[in-house]
Amino acid sequence: MSETPVHGPDVKTAHQDLHSEQGALHGEHPGRSRNPVIKVADLAWLEFEKPDLERAEVFARDFGFQVAARTESALWLRGSFAGTPCMVIRRGRTSRFIGPAFRAAERADLDRLARAIGSDVRDADVPGGGKAVGLLDPSGFPVRVVHCGEQLRALPEQRPLLLNFGTAHRRTNATQRPPREPSRIQRLGHVVLETRVFSRALDWYLDTLGMIVSDFQFLDGQRERGPVMAFIRCDLGGVPVDHHTLAMHLGPGTGYVHSAYQVTDLDSIAAGGEYLKERGYQRSWGIGRHIQGSQLFDYWRDPDRFMLEHFADGDLFSRDVEPGWAPLSTSGLAQWGPQATRDFLGAGPSPQRIRDVIRALRGDNEMDPARLLGLLKAAKS
Ligand SMILES: [Fe+2]
Repeated sequence: MSETPVHGPDVKTAHQDLHSEQGALHGEHPGRSRNPVIKVADLAWLEFEKPDLERAEVFARDFGFQVAARTESALWLRGSFAGTPCMVIRRGRTSRFIGPAFRAAERADLDRLARAIGSDVRDADVPGGGKAVGLLDPSGFPVRVVHCGEQLRALPEQRPLLLNFGTAHRRTNATQRPPREPSRIQRLGHVVLETRVFSRALDWYLDTLGMIVSDFQFLDGQRERGPVMAFIRCDLGGVPVDHHTLAMHLGPGTGYVHSAYQVTDLDSIAAGGEYLKERGYQRSWGIGRHIQGSQLFDYWRDPDRFMLEHFADGDLFSRDVEPGWAPLSTSGLAQWGPQATRDFLGAGPSPQRIRDVIRALRGDNEMDPARLLGLLKAAKS
């Protein structure tokens, strides 16, 4: 996998105080693969299963999605931007996250990928048609790489408010009245996953899908054991992309942590948040501004307790930016905002969490007592 870190003339090192306290030490993970199978262009959509599509649609509209397609067995949700849908919820017996679908840069990438893993290119079950290759990542998540035949057309969206700053008066003889309505989702931004096999999963995404690391995080006092969290972006060369489209961290469980959807601006986050609160939904954590990725954020729980994030104003990095390295800590999650909640941190000792810990400590994976202790310490720091 790993290529050695490159320091070309146009390569910004993390030491320039760009996005993290420090860069890699000699011999640490370079955060990108020398020769990946393909380079995916973006996260396309996330797949869920739920028994009650009607209830799912009510929350989806309140959160700010629009319906791209609805059948007896599937609900396709979208944002206002042109492109692919953001999410599909398939009717099923349980309420669960299935896996992510990534967008191939070109159709030929699907053939290359299928050849490399000894699989086939199949028809993608997506409105408008398309092709897909199905994979399984080392954590056990089914991952699809898709190439869609037809793009969804852009829809009208919320306009950013015209703001007055200091003596820069751009709005005069006019009032500011952000509407009390659902935020309007523009697009899917990222998904965060927990895994017991972080290092293997990380290398798989870099080597197979050509993604690159924006920021690594390590356990305080255990840096020499390698990172336990990575914020990972797509590699579109000189084209700047989201700081992370996928984030993964080591933990006792394997599962979905949250997914994030871009909205217009801070007012859209705040007014849309009031709308959700009035309808009785539970805010998990927010409003604040992150450090890794710099997004303005607000986290909510859907009726099945899946966590979803509204965000705006995130960092965009081109290939030129090297990975930053920082210790994992709760205080390192935000520049400002309320203290991270126990709900957001998943800190409650639920029966499921206790089962996860026992299973992780007994099993063949990357969790061990020292790391578990390190993770608990990070949650309190
Ligand atoms: Fe997020």
